[in-house]
Amino acid sequence: MPTILISGANRGIGLELARQFALGGWTVIGTARHPEAATDLAALPSTTVLPLEATEPESLAALGASLDGQPIDVLIANAGIAINLAASAAEVTRQDFLKVVRTNTFAPLALAGVLKPNLLAGERKLAFAMSSLMSSITANDWGTQYTYRASKTGLNAVWTALTREWRPLGIACGLLRPGMVATEMTNFNGIAVETSVSGMKQVVENFTMADAGRIIGYDGTDVPW
Ligand SMILES: NC(=O)c1ccc[n+]([C@@H]2O[C@H](COP(=O)([O-])OP(=O)(O)OC[C@H]3O[C@@H](n4cnc5c(N)ncnc54)[C@H](OP(=O)(O)O)[C@@H]3O)[C@@H](O)[C@H]2O)c1
Repeated sequence: MPTILISGANRGIGLELARQFALGGWTVIGTARHPEAATDLAALPSTTVLPLEATEPESLAALGASLDGQPIDVLIANAGIAINLAASAAEVTRQDFLKVVRTNTFAPLALAGVLKPNLLAGERKLAFAMSSLMSSITANDWGTQYTYRASKTGLNAVWTALTREWRPLGIACGLLRPGMVATEMTNFNGIAVETSVSGMKQVVENFTMADAGRIIGYDGTDVPW
């Protein structure tokens, strides 16, 4: 059975990804900041819960050490945050800006770096991060969401560079767009998490090197840059 590692898998989109892949017969490694509290995740079949604070190098290194030598077919760097989305330009703080970029831009890249040996040892060799329509400069027609937009546009940039770096190694990298999904992040406004995740699961399962570098929505459509 193929193995998938999903970060931030204790709730929201990450938990539903873990659920649908586990029920689909995959071996799931779900990370959580507080594994002892991740009871819904731990209750899934063929699922292991590992600790990860995704912005902390020591935590990333500990995850890498605990997975030493274990093949991973697919990575989904899902963990992410949104803070004070409605803030005007004058209201954006340096603290919020750096926290969001650290979590949404640095952490996925750092996680990919740590898991590179595991992905190389896996058969499918796929690495995804969770982008957003908010990453699109073309589609930005109403402003605000400064920190979140910057973090996800930056994620697109680093994942594109990763795509180029890893293509010769046989690892295909892609970006996923869940749509606006009813989770804590959106105060439970948006489409059902089951709908978003079943679409993204199909994207992941059909993804090949020919798709590397795309930002693909849960509905199969590309997000404009
Ligand atoms: N919901 C949407 O409409 C939407 C749309 C586009 C993109 N996305 C993206 O999809 C991903 C999942 O979103 P969601 O809606 O499921 O959000 P969510 O319900 O708020 O869940 C976020 C998850 O990320 C984890 N996380 C946050 N910071 C972390 C850190 N520093 N280290 C480790 N884990 C951390 C959280 O863990 P804790 O429980 O410990 O906080 C939680 O498991 C995010 O990258 C988000 O930007 C969401």
